[in-house]
Amino acid sequence: MKVTVLGAAGGIGQPLSLLLKNNLPAGSKLSLFDVAPFTPGVAKDLSHVPTDVCVDGYTGDDLPKALDGADVVVIPAGVARKPGMTRDDLFNINAGIVANLVKNCAKVCPKACICIITNPVNSTVPLAAEVLKAEGVYDAHRLFGVTVLDVLRSETFLGEELGLSKAAMYVPVIGGHSGNTILPLLSQVVGAEKISAERVDELTKRIQNAGTEVVEAKAGAGSATLSMACAGARFALKVVRGLLGEPGVSEYGYTEGGSGYTQFFAQRLVFGKGGWEKTCEIGCLSDYEQKCLDELKPVLEGNIKKGVDFAQKWLQENK
Ligand code: LMR
Repeated sequence: MKVTVLGAAGGIGQPLSLLLKNNLPAGSKLSLFDVAPFTPGVAKDLSHVPTDVCVDGYTGDDLPKALDGADVVVIPAGVARKPGMTRDDLFNINAGIVANLVKNCAKVCPKACICIITNPVNSTVPLAAEVLKAEGVYDAHRLFGVTVLDVLRSETFLGEELGLSKAAMYVPVIGGHSGNTILPLLSQVVGAEKISAERVDELTKRIQNAGTEVVEAKAGAGSATLSMACAGARFALKVVRGLLGEPGVSEYGYTEGGSGYTQFFAQRLVFGKGGWEKTCEIGCLSDYEQKCLDELKPVLEGNIKKGVDFAQKWLQENK
């Protein structure tokens, strides 16, 4: 397997690359690209970690070299929020970055599974789909938005709430990756029936605002990097396991198709040799969750449209 990280020298990219260096199967290749000129130095640094994963680092005009032969591309490139900003406020800067990187993927590694971390994920993934369609290489089964951080946070907060091991928790989170489009299904967590309706509302809102909790705590120095790196690595490593043919590997992710709710939707995916092979039913919802789902749909539809509209304009301007 060759995994390429685009934005590899940044706050998410560096710890993500370390996690991949430590956890990819022996014999894999890890390729780092970033506009930061010290990216080959990051690769050199990582290359001293004793695992059987080869690391290369590229910058400048060498994006095609970084992407050559990639099976999986993970994209955390872009700018992060500052206090007072929503993820949507990042759109104007990050949309162009994602469009350009994905166009390069389409040309150099058209069959790669592309995992997008760059916010606003609700819009950058539909945007990427349009760019891939314009290049004639779009496969919905190979394009993902990484929403697993919402699952990690839910596992942490629910574990704390129930006094259970956080490592043993598994909390479904569906919808999207911003504000009220993040919908944790707490009613499906074993033991959560003990939690009052009022507390379920508080926990749901905390999960939805957890990214902002980090942005405010970092006070202008960015957003979640370490926990996002964990989320990105957890997701990418599962994609790799699926590509290698391991049966039954699944994770929550934001993709097109199969949900019946909105065109792009985060749900549990089962991975295989072709990317995600099937989606899982979201299961029974409480009345509270059903109301949240009804409320999130128009918001998510608007976010999706924003990505598609941007892509159509960008494609006209970048023929
Ligand atoms: C997060 O959830 O922490 C990330 O999407 C970054 C952000 O801006 O909140």
